[in-house]
Amino acid sequence: MKTRILTGITTTGTPHLGNYAGAIRPAIVASREANADSFYFLADYHALIKCDDPQRIQQSRLEIAATWLASGLDAERVTFYRQSDIPEIPELTWLLTCVAGKGLLNRAHAYKASVDKNVEKGEDPDAGITMGLFSYPVLMAADILMFNAHKVPVGRDQIQHVEMARDIGQRFNHLFGNGRELFTAPEALIEESVATLPGLDGRKMSKSYDNTIPLFGSAKQLKSTIARIVTDSRLPGEPKDPDDSHLFTLYQAFATPAQLAEFRGELLGGLAWGEAKQRLFELLDNELSEARERYHALMARPGELEDILQAGAAKARKVATPFLGELREAVGLRNFRSDVTSAAPAKKKGGKTARFASFRETDGSFRFRFFSADGEELLLSRGFSDPKAIGVVTQRLVAQGVDALELRADEDDQFSLWLDGECLADSPSYADEQSLEAAMLRLRQALATLMA
Ligand code: TRP
Repeated sequence: MKTRILTGITTTGTPHLGNYAGAIRPAIVASREANADSFYFLADYHALIKCDDPQRIQQSRLEIAATWLASGLDAERVTFYRQSDIPEIPELTWLLTCVAGKGLLNRAHAYKASVDKNVEKGEDPDAGITMGLFSYPVLMAADILMFNAHKVPVGRDQIQHVEMARDIGQRFNHLFGNGRELFTAPEALIEESVATLPGLDGRKMSKSYDNTIPLFGSAKQLKSTIARIVTDSRLPGEPKDPDDSHLFTLYQAFATPAQLAEFRGELLGGLAWGEAKQRLFELLDNELSEARERYHALMARPGELEDILQAGAAKARKVATPFLGELREAVGLRNFRSDVTSAAPAKKKGGKTARFASFRETDGSFRFRFFSADGEELLLSRGFSDPKAIGVVTQRLVAQGVDALELRADEDDQFSLWLDGECLADSPSYADEQSLEAAMLRLRQALATLMA
């Protein structure tokens, strides 16, 4: 099975070299693995929590989208989208808000830190704190649970949020899953091997320290920024200690082992700092110059970026729309016409029953699924233009029961359900003929329980 990897990037700033080495480059490498199914998105709703400058939000979304694509992200291979293009996410946020404990959210670090700061200053604990900040983890849980991500690569400060997503998802499963795992439990993924880059002054490279190296500035700008890297005062000819030099650490994040060994030797042999900076410049310029050109080309054609992101949103919604339909159904927001579970409440022990669930597709058509009492999906229908037709068909299936069932094994691994010479629904695929036949039997049994 493929591993679904999902991560979001809050769109409030311009990516720098530290973001590139610490998040962008490893995520792109991970997306190329054969069993990876990657969902990467611009967390622009999250950006609104921290930033009320529309210009900056818009510019940052553009720059971050261009950076990821210019750095080699293959938008065909991964699902790359803007959070704000997926209306299912805020809708899911509400469903989750209604099960998330307030006490759980009270414990979120970001919110607590703001409260502590207020208290320290002798202000009202909630001064300046928005509901956006307070509910931030619920929105993030919706991002993650919407796509049933297995792994969520994040920085250490975000581990707690991923754990909250898991808590909230499990609570929802418990309340509405009818024994079924509606949501997958996500896991935070912390890449130990990934470089945390030092900035110009040796502290962690960060916008808040104003010590960053811009990622896609001009070669000239790159050179003059590198010139500002702080070094010790050893003169040309004096041996330098590579392990006590953040210039060396920066070099290390981009060099091959051979290049690194050579550089180490030269520093020990007394290479001048000016020369060392020239070496670092050449290394970085070599790594970044092609991507830099692609970046500026993309920034010059925002319409093209828009198209790429719209296509990404369509791809994401192919997953989100039907899934949200199921979730709405699960909590009791159902279509009055096609809700047949109430018409046939054949309860099994434990209160669980086999059931039909209908939902609406992105293209406006309607479909239903049929689940066994323990939540196994047995059928997915073809599209219907009218939700009423689903009600009619499913009621006939219930009324006529097993007699109405005409099942055809289409291939070795899948069967379909036919009624009056028309194919209505397909089964999932099964591993072999034996499991296929066993599934047909389970389908007949599940339907029989509804007839009783
Ligand atoms: N909150 C994350 C950050 O600031 C960004 C983010 C939003 C995210 N939604 C997410 C990360 C979902 C992972 C999964 O870094």
